[in-house]
Amino acid sequence: MKKTSLFIIAFLSAATSAEDRDCEMTDQLYQRACDTESRMTDEERFSLIHGIMPIPDELHPRSSFPAEAIAGAGFVPGVPRLGIPSLRETDGSLGVTNPFSVRPGDNATAMPSTLVLASTFDPVLARKFGNAIGREARFRGFNLLLTGGANLTRDPRNGRNFEYLSEDPLLTGVMAGASIAGTQQAGVISTLKHFALNANETNRHFLDAVIDPAALRESDLLAFQIAIEQGQPGSVMGAYNKVNGIYSTANTWLLQNVLRKDWDYKGWVMSDWGSVAGADSANRGLDQQSGAQLDKQVWFDGPLNAMLHDGSFSHERLSQMVRRILRSMYAVGIDKDRPLGADDRYAAQDVALDTARKGITLLKNEGILPLGAPLHTVLVIGGHANQGVLAGGGSSQVVPRGGNALSIPVGGNGVMGAYRVEAYARSSPQAELAKLLYTAKVTYDPGVYPQVAASLARGADVAVVFVTKHESEAFDSPDLSLPGSQDALITAVAKANPNTVVVLETGNPVLMPWRDAVRGIVAAWYPGEAGGQAIAEILTGKVNPSGRLPMTFPAAEADLPRPTLPGFGLPNDAPNRVEYTEGAAAGYRWFATRGQTPIYPFGHGLSYTQFAYSGLRVNGGKSIAARFEVRNTGPHEGADVPQVYLLDDRGNRVSRLLGFERINLKPGESRVVNLQADPRFLANFDERAQRWIIAGGYYHIGLARSAGNIVLTGRVRLAPGSFTSAELRTRQAR
Ligand code: BGC
Repeated sequence: MKKTSLFIIAFLSAATSAEDRDCEMTDQLYQRACDTESRMTDEERFSLIHGIMPIPDELHPRSSFPAEAIAGAGFVPGVPRLGIPSLRETDGSLGVTNPFSVRPGDNATAMPSTLVLASTFDPVLARKFGNAIGREARFRGFNLLLTGGANLTRDPRNGRNFEYLSEDPLLTGVMAGASIAGTQQAGVISTLKHFALNANETNRHFLDAVIDPAALRESDLLAFQIAIEQGQPGSVMGAYNKVNGIYSTANTWLLQNVLRKDWDYKGWVMSDWGSVAGADSANRGLDQQSGAQLDKQVWFDGPLNAMLHDGSFSHERLSQMVRRILRSMYAVGIDKDRPLGADDRYAAQDVALDTARKGITLLKNEGILPLGAPLHTVLVIGGHANQGVLAGGGSSQVVPRGGNALSIPVGGNGVMGAYRVEAYARSSPQAELAKLLYTAKVTYDPGVYPQVAASLARGADVAVVFVTKHESEAFDSPDLSLPGSQDALITAVAKANPNTVVVLETGNPVLMPWRDAVRGIVAAWYPGEAGGQAIAEILTGKVNPSGRLPMTFPAAEADLPRPTLPGFGLPNDAPNRVEYTEGAAAGYRWFATRGQTPIYPFGHGLSYTQFAYSGLRVNGGKSIAARFEVRNTGPHEGADVPQVYLLDDRGNRVSRLLGFERINLKPGESRVVNLQADPRFLANFDERAQRWIIAGGYYHIGLARSAGNIVLTGRVRLAPGSFTSAELRTRQAR
């Protein structure tokens, strides 16, 4: 035998044994994936690691897509001879999307934005939310949902915050995990995105998010880590931006050190659409190129194959990429030939309404709400409230059944300008208020001219002003103001009639120069297709408000870690280097460390009843356990969200959210609540040692109504300690 052949045999057997080890060391699902993968040809392997975006355009007519592709966000052909299903992918963070109506007439339930979901602080509801969308996707033949946005809302000008959950890693991780689990329970793979630090949209393809790695582990990455532990998503989507100089989809530190080695993530990493810089990303941890026609090249086909042949990409790695995809298919069961299920639209619509009812948040109430008799005249002003409620724009935008009440193409720079549509779902707050306040006359003024609205308000018993701020993927807001003359509108109306209530339909916190002049303020965010009904029910007391803010409302842009929007005014494709110098102190932690008092703190929300807290007991040791009683001392049934925080050294200000629970209580009823802190929230991450370190000593704990309202405090001693993520997993599994 020739020397070269011997060499080839030796090389092949080395490769095979490494592959075998990869298969032996892991679970049964992965072993099954290994078995299938071993029977695939390389051509089949390559076809599974890149996909298309089956939305026709000039270069890609409908006829160029495989017949079995459902028009939508993504498609990857399967391998029928081995029972490998195609991946039929749709966006669906807020419901099943239908971009540009590529599937004519196929509309779905438009859920409230995930900021509303997070405002419920209710993981059980989050599971139902994910499940309802999962069932609607499955019914349409999709088997993968590009859901699960879990980026922390670090910057209240980020145009995509409405698709995310909160500024806090615990709330975000728990709610994302529950929603993912619900989706996958419906037999649809869920995606966790955008990994990581996609906290601003301005020039997102050229944005370098710079942060201390340990701080990232304690904040955004901790949210992702918890979401993975609790939701076990089949896939993770890399972000557009760079993290510390390296594109997320080619970032070895993120994709291998953190996600694989430390977290032991078993699913696959797909790219965001048009986020792959080159074929070498496969060597750095990216497993699949999505929507490949949006990248400069279909990197994970010809170019990667060439690398396989020149030896710069290994067959072992190719096999691993394929196996990870197969493992998730098996874990969620999308390979099983099961019926698609029924059209569960009514169940989904119930979830949409329930989420809006529980998430819409009462921020201020000076004895004006709930509205009721003896009202004779109510003037509803602005925000197209005679027609519907606002939704956010971009790839997550859902067109509800029957279409929107109003769709205004906004346009703007780049490809995403076409997705920027200011749409109002057909759920008119004015009509819903008229139904509930049937003895009153409920009229409408568009609020175009403040002086007209003010003169009409003068004659009304109550004026309810609806203000809107449209936000969209790919665009940030330059500041926190309400656009147009809406501030002037509120000021004029409140001057004419002190009985003024403001309803905010926004994708972010906004400034409120008129706050002291009005008697009631409600944050409805983007409340979904039943939003008008839920708003009216809350305004009239049919539903007792119980939402709590997942984001701080700052008093001024000057109070933010970056007072000016990063990248503001840059030309389109210019690099945007953003230094997240606040590190792990995102959101309320930032304001607390600076001693700043925001307008409304994280966790804030009012009710029409009252809750009393008593009997706080805290135990220390390796972690912190808190026990306390909550009693409904008011006249109405309602839900409360008591929150337990770690406080600063002096016990004055909040430092980290350790636990929360949403509880429903009848008048006079009480409940004992037990909360156990995840020790990672008591620790700092040591990046060099790859360990969570708890410094021993005394710690202050606060039982609070919000990050700005601590009711009871306790002190507890923690033992010094340290642990790795793997040790914690073992401990939690016991
Ligand atoms: C978004 C993703 C989305 C994808 C597919 C991208 O522009 O960032 O969140 O899933 O498009 O539509």
